[in-house]
Amino acid sequence: MNHQSEIWENDLAGILNVNYPVIQAPMLGVTTPQMVAAAANTGALGSLALGDLPAGTCAELIRATKELTGKPFAVNIFLHPLPEKTEELRSQYLRTKEFLTAFSDKHQLDVDYPDFEDIEPVDYHDQVDALIAGKCKIVSFTFGVPDRASIELFKKNGTVLIGTATSVEEALVLEKSGIDVICVQGYEAGGHRGSFMGDKIPEIGGISLLSRVYDQVKVPLMYAGGIYDAKTLLAAGLLGAQGFQVGSLLLASAESALQEFEKDRLRNASEKDIVLTKSFSGRYARGLKNVFTDALDNSTYILPYPYQNKITGPLRAAARLRQDPELVSIWTGQSESSYSRASTGNIITDLIESTENYNRSLTHHMVSENKR
Ligand SMILES: Cc1cc2nc3c(=O)[nH]c(=O)nc-3n(C[C@H](O)[C@H](O)[C@H](O)COP(=O)(O)O)c2cc1C
Repeated sequence: MNHQSEIWENDLAGILNVNYPVIQAPMLGVTTPQMVAAAANTGALGSLALGDLPAGTCAELIRATKELTGKPFAVNIFLHPLPEKTEELRSQYLRTKEFLTAFSDKHQLDVDYPDFEDIEPVDYHDQVDALIAGKCKIVSFTFGVPDRASIELFKKNGTVLIGTATSVEEALVLEKSGIDVICVQGYEAGGHRGSFMGDKIPEIGGISLLSRVYDQVKVPLMYAGGIYDAKTLLAAGLLGAQGFQVGSLLLASAESALQEFEKDRLRNASEKDIVLTKSFSGRYARGLKNVFTDALDNSTYILPYPYQNKITGPLRAAARLRQDPELVSIWTGQSESSYSRASTGNIITDLIESTENYNRSLTHHMVSENKR
């Protein structure tokens, strides 16, 4: 076996039908069909983020991606259980709306917040139908486990299912439900925590989590969280991952939907700026601390997901128009990357080539050490 195939040829590459089990992470708000296609066209796996988008939009984005690549790609949805529309939630909503109205006035932002009655959370079952109709062959999800009927429907259609786990307990539940592949998400990862068991999210770093999940489950694993170069990728491989998901590394790529001011803000961020915050969406997500997160975190104005996400949407949109990095959500992981503005294809190809080179030098080094 040559050094190259030793890294990339494994069960997961076969299951995903890719040359390189390097996965462009689904990133809602960042991923575009162009990014997915660029990743897929290098022989890696692209992932189209569809979380929380209406079924019609999912269908359009799937179609747009298929026009750009004939290669396999994954689509990604959110499975967060929807809270009941109770009177208590309604009054909580009104309080938050009042707070946010005063907040945006103070920051001279003209924002039209939706009424409670206008909020229409997306039911993932509608997305499942759109995914089946769009003949999606690889589906990844986060924030839970699909119900039995959806899993059966996917299986009947020959779909590969990838679930996200942030603890050993979640990995075991996913495996038991019949999921084909588990994406182990380390605490380092940018964006939302995929956690779905218990009120408190597990705070387990990638090294501990990946090696423990590897010891306890049998399905192939991919790893997400902190991979940004050859060494971090190979480290995940040593700990048992067969697939390597990269998110933050691609945030500023040419195909990213982020605006220039957001890419600039990322480049100027230091490690102290990267926090976990519930302020924008009601779920913990890792990203840059700013005026908005400071004002909301630890306040009583955070609604359960997806209501917080929906109510802050127009504020974030207005702040984006003004190009104000202090009032928008900019998600990123703990491994500060160079936030290259190169194309997604070039960034992924560089990662693949540098991993092969590094692995070769590592093996040579070890061989020469052994000869002494
Ligand atoms: C901007 C951003 C958006 C994200 N959106 C999603 C998403 O829609 N679905 C999902 O499963 N994970 C999402 N994630 C998590 C990534 O898929 C992945 O787990 C993470 O980026 C890996 O860690 P890294 O950023 O250190 O590479 C997002 C991450 C970022 C940075």
